[in-house]
Amino acid sequence: MRTIKEIVPVALENHRYEIIIAASLLEDIITPIQAVLTGKRCVVISDATVAPLYADGILNQFAKAGYAATLITINSGDKNKNFSSLQYICEKLLDFKVDRNCFLVALGGGVIGDITGLAASLILRGIPYIQIPTTLLAQVDSSVGGKTAINMPQGKNLVGAFYQPSLVLIDSTVLRTLGKREILAGYAEILKYGLINDAPFFAWLEQHGAAVCALDPAAVHYAVATSCRAKAAIVAADEKETSGLRALLNLGHTFGHALEAAVGYSDTVLHGEAVAMGCLMAFQLSVDLGQCPPQDLERLKQHQQACGYALTLPALADFPWQAETLVELMALDKKVADQKKTFVLAKGIGASYLDKNIDDSSVIKALNKFIKV
Ligand code: NAD
Ligand code: GLY
Repeated sequence: MRTIKEIVPVALENHRYEIIIAASLLEDIITPIQAVLTGKRCVVISDATVAPLYADGILNQFAKAGYAATLITINSGDKNKNFSSLQYICEKLLDFKVDRNCFLVALGGGVIGDITGLAASLILRGIPYIQIPTTLLAQVDSSVGGKTAINMPQGKNLVGAFYQPSLVLIDSTVLRTLGKREILAGYAEILKYGLINDAPFFAWLEQHGAAVCALDPAAVHYAVATSCRAKAAIVAADEKETSGLRALLNLGHTFGHALEAAVGYSDTVLHGEAVAMGCLMAFQLSVDLGQCPPQDLERLKQHQQACGYALTLPALADFPWQAETLVELMALDKKVADQKKTFVLAKGIGASYLDKNIDDSSVIKALNKFIKV
């Protein structure tokens, strides 16, 4: 089969980098890296699940090309995207005598991408890093755009920095080792782009979503490339979320982060699962407020049901869900300003907008439709 290759530029005011998308791209990472980075020492950062699968292949390529490369591994999962992992990574980097010509390689899902990007921004006041995303979620969202962070007991991603990578290398063949649950979690972020501002993409996903989730190569390539183009365009227009445009990428996240915080960022609810449920909740709230036609919520529900997502909180996880507690957790969201929560709502599929004037009572009412079923 002919390898489909696509390069999506991310053109920012002060920095430009490429997202290269191609199956089997990881067979030669040296050529694209040498095109953008001159340093010959690097540190690959990965997690305990991904490192045994892919780190040797990457380290061997560096060794053959004359690089001094080492590996730092942290435990897998969102609950490890925390200060103690960050400290561990920074100490290991200093043990390696990292200097400003070194670069970091984030080899893993969104957890590794986010924490590696943050470590790169901090160590020696900033060294370059590249992203090699290995989950569907990281390939379509977290590896692009330079949001880096760790979670805090008070909330999700509350300590972080905007710090852009030098390169993103996306190889869909690594998705073959991912579990079904992780694939569906990543698909939620793909769906999000259709819901935000691309109704034709949502319609394409209604037709081809099953093929994407079954990892059909052409369907995955189209979905990943379309998502990366959408994200690159939004990030280029509003890199630091100042105009409100980039905030639309948080559709489903005000709700979703509260669900994740409630379960302590444990595997009880994965980030992408929380986003999928959060998108439904945002559409429900939009319908309740008279902004969105109920048939668009119904269409979203039908597609999510066909994909296999939970449509209620008890179906998502056995947890004592309480609408009031979730609303309290939302008050710690990064997007809260002047004590007002920001919601991404929708006038329909492909027509999202921001609203900072939503009463807690409306949110509780919408949440209860997913709890008291
Ligand atoms: P993750 O990084 O925890 O990966 C999910 C699981 O899959 C982990 O257990 C991991 O070890 C495993 N895994 C990864 N690649 C694998 C592979 N190829 N084969 C087998 N197993 C593999 O989670 P995620 O869903 O990738 O990312 C979620 C994180 O991303 C959250 O912390 C979220 O806040 C963050 N995020 C950040 C942004 C951003 O813009 N920076 C955007 C979206 C999400
Ligand atoms: N995932 C949200 C953003 O990158 O802005």
